[in-house]
Amino acid sequence: MNNITNPKYNPHDISLLYKYYAGFSVQFVLDMLKGYKISELTIMDPWNGSGTTSKIAGQLGAKEVYGFDINPVMNVIAAAELLSINEFKNIELNSIQNLRNHDIKEDPLEAWFTKTSVRNIRNVELEIMTNLLDETSEPHKFLLLKKELVVKNRLTAFYYLALFETVKRLTKKFNTSNPTWIKVAKNQEEKVKISHKKFEKLFLEELQSKKTVLSKRKKNISQNIILKTQDSRKIPLDDNSVDLTITSPPYCTRIDYAVATRVELAILGFSNDNDFEELRKEMIGTTKIIKNSSEQPFYFSNTAQTFMSNVYNHASKASKTYYYKQFSQYFDGISMSISELNRVSKQNSKIIIVVQDSFYKDIHLDIAVVFEEIFDKYGWSATLKQSFEKKQTMVTINNKTKNYRTISNPTETVLIFERR
Ligand SMILES: C[S@@+](CC[C@H](N)C(=O)[O-])C[C@H]1O[C@@H](n2cnc3c(N)ncnc32)[C@H](O)[C@@H]1O
Repeated sequence: MNNITNPKYNPHDISLLYKYYAGFSVQFVLDMLKGYKISELTIMDPWNGSGTTSKIAGQLGAKEVYGFDINPVMNVIAAAELLSINEFKNIELNSIQNLRNHDIKEDPLEAWFTKTSVRNIRNVELEIMTNLLDETSEPHKFLLLKKELVVKNRLTAFYYLALFETVKRLTKKFNTSNPTWIKVAKNQEEKVKISHKKFEKLFLEELQSKKTVLSKRKKNISQNIILKTQDSRKIPLDDNSVDLTITSPPYCTRIDYAVATRVELAILGFSNDNDFEELRKEMIGTTKIIKNSSEQPFYFSNTAQTFMSNVYNHASKASKTYYYKQFSQYFDGISMSISELNRVSKQNSKIIIVVQDSFYKDIHLDIAVVFEEIFDKYGWSATLKQSFEKKQTMVTINNKTKNYRTISNPTETVLIFERR
């Protein structure tokens, strides 16, 4: 393979149901799969995000596909991406209002909406659930308890995606200049008020626009796709079971992926404190410090080691304490995940990874080299390495980090690993 397609995410791709800034491009995955007998392959993405890998592998008819992500929101989105138009079913919304205000108790959506508005949103959700799943229990609790069921049910996931987008349209005024940060209402006056009728109308509009996207895409996507809310440090697959991995890990850019989906998590019933904070802790690259991280495996990589001592010795505030710990747990998580990738990959398998470099103040982190060094310890070499300069990222949006950047544009690198 000489020239590789730029993996850069294309936000104008009209085939996408959901815009995930952390995603890679559909064309990249398509090109990576060229030349393979796909129907014989087990393909995996341990950081599946919006499901670019699972969707394309499924469309091309892979034997088995596994997509894992620790964030359940991403699994719902990845499942919705698998729906084809002939599986779509219309449901009648009859403006039934089963829930009363007193049924809304500590609902996480109350961070942005008045109680009555939350009731109106949950009533639409309940109608979807009763229509599609014949389930009359509290709607969002249902999803939380039976995450896997929803992920298997592409149609329900599709309806949830439309719900996510409708609610997000209404919380727009709480967005900040940092796309991964959303404010909450400071008082009752700031909270959004929306009537049942209006919400239903907006929801149906959203559903219609998503349906238009569906109608333009390939029909009959394979059913042999398993999407699961799972930590990449514990991949739930047997040793030697995967032929091909196409993935991109969480970046080390201090972007909080959980916060970016906070509204969607609230819809799924994640309480704004406990559930949400628990999820943040499990995310690789989290800005939260977790006690008991082993701080060990980064010694596998000299580059990571040098980066860590430069961070430790940096004069800026909290370098020795908070930042040192944060990077150490990032390398820890990445190393543990690579060990799992090594375990589940077949002898002659390939692992295709897209990584993005980053900076801590003026210290450059060449993450591609870190990956090469860790993979090397397990007997893998990069048979291809190609870098692409990215025009704009979240990091450069923040003016403070700009002051420190010595290389203006971050670089994305595609690495293809094979066992020696
Ligand atoms: C760069 S994104 C992947 C995007 C994906 N390639 C796409 O096209 O949408 C990395 C993903 O890793 C997930 N992640 C973070 N920590 C994880 C963990 N411990 N286990 C599994 N997934 C995790 C994040 O939720 C995020 O969706």
